[in-house]
Amino acid sequence: MDDSLPLSLRSQGYPASPIRKLIPYAKAAEAAGHKVFYLNIGEPNHDTPAAFFQPIHAYQTPHLPYEPSQGHPELLIAIQGYFQRLGYPLEKHHLQVTQGATDALLFSLFTIANSGDDILTFEPFYPNYLAFTAQLGLTLVGIPTTMENAYALPSLEEMETYLTPKTKAILISNPSNPTGRIYTEEELKRIVNFAKKHQLWIISDELYHTLTFAGKKATTLLAYQKVYPAIVVIDSVSKRYAACGARIGCLINTHTPFMECIFQLGQSRLGVSLLDQLGAAALYRLENPSLAHLPALYEARRDKVINFLSAYPWIHYVKPEATFYLMLSLPIHDSNHFCTWLIEHIHLDGERVLITPAENLYVTPGKGKNEVRLALVLEEEPLLRAMNILVYGLQQYMTLFEPLNPSRPVHE
Ligand SMILES: Cc1ncc(COP(=O)(O)O)c(C=O)c1O
Repeated sequence: MDDSLPLSLRSQGYPASPIRKLIPYAKAAEAAGHKVFYLNIGEPNHDTPAAFFQPIHAYQTPHLPYEPSQGHPELLIAIQGYFQRLGYPLEKHHLQVTQGATDALLFSLFTIANSGDDILTFEPFYPNYLAFTAQLGLTLVGIPTTMENAYALPSLEEMETYLTPKTKAILISNPSNPTGRIYTEEELKRIVNFAKKHQLWIISDELYHTLTFAGKKATTLLAYQKVYPAIVVIDSVSKRYAACGARIGCLINTHTPFMECIFQLGQSRLGVSLLDQLGAAALYRLENPSLAHLPALYEARRDKVINFLSAYPWIHYVKPEATFYLMLSLPIHDSNHFCTWLIEHIHLDGERVLITPAENLYVTPGKGKNEVRLALVLEEEPLLRAMNILVYGLQQYMTLFEPLNPSRPVHE
């Protein structure tokens, strides 16, 4: 095949995943006999509940048919049951089963915006938001939130300065990947008022809504769908049930024309994996999930890591209230360079660490260059070994490359 065969301009401008792009360095280190601590991907390191596998093992039919495009009836009922238990009864025609939250986000953006339109989101953001908008020819517009301000959301007036005639939606992750922040009730009202005032859609990505700490709760925007139907709520089994490989999620909305388009999109991709839907139905049915202890476990990990890092005044962070992510501000100028250098050059007793550079968690030029994201998805002991490698690497890096000296307060 001729290497000069042209590809689309779209494909050439497509952003590399900052979470995955350094994996080849980690694989090379492993091939050379080293151990790598993967803190780049937010994949829970726990067993998926056994309930997931039971219907799959019990499946006896000697054939795998297409399932209804909206979703397997058992899964739809199980999702309704889950949200009913949370206090949000859902009509079946307000639900679409998707291949993870990913599919739900793409379907929603496709249905809401034309290519060339703007989608607002708060920076730093889950980096695939940039990939999804790029796929659809949309512009992702970042509204900054900062570590210095504990990632508080800006005022309505400030949000309004990011509007253009092409703005169609605001996309939020609550609790937030990557900051671990839970939006306050007042902030959620502000987002809803902002959207109502300017006739925008809200896409509320709520994957981490049960992974909250210290008794704090995240409010789902399902609570606001009655007063403002242009709210799409997205859920997935990936994180809550440690079932990233199932690729099952759903979207929820009450606006009939929107859902009709979503159902058509569902039909054009035929259906979602039957066996994974059966397993996911068993997960959504769990009344007392065997993973109910997870938030406390993630909270304990967060505390261990923060306690370790607090000894280094040049490492800044805001204590996350939820999720298993931690953003760090470091005395570095180029997080891509640092994270690559770290995995390539630094090991302690044959152990290395892979983390995510944060530059691509922003669209505002220059932002995130001194930040990294950690996914705290290891047990406490290896996590602390990984932190040791990170700090040792950082100390070496500061002697080799001119360090940045941020004089920022640490919020805890
Ligand atoms: C905020 C957020 N949205 C969506 C996704 C994708 O989730 P899924 O595995 O359900 O496609 C992730 C995965 O990390 C995420 O963190």
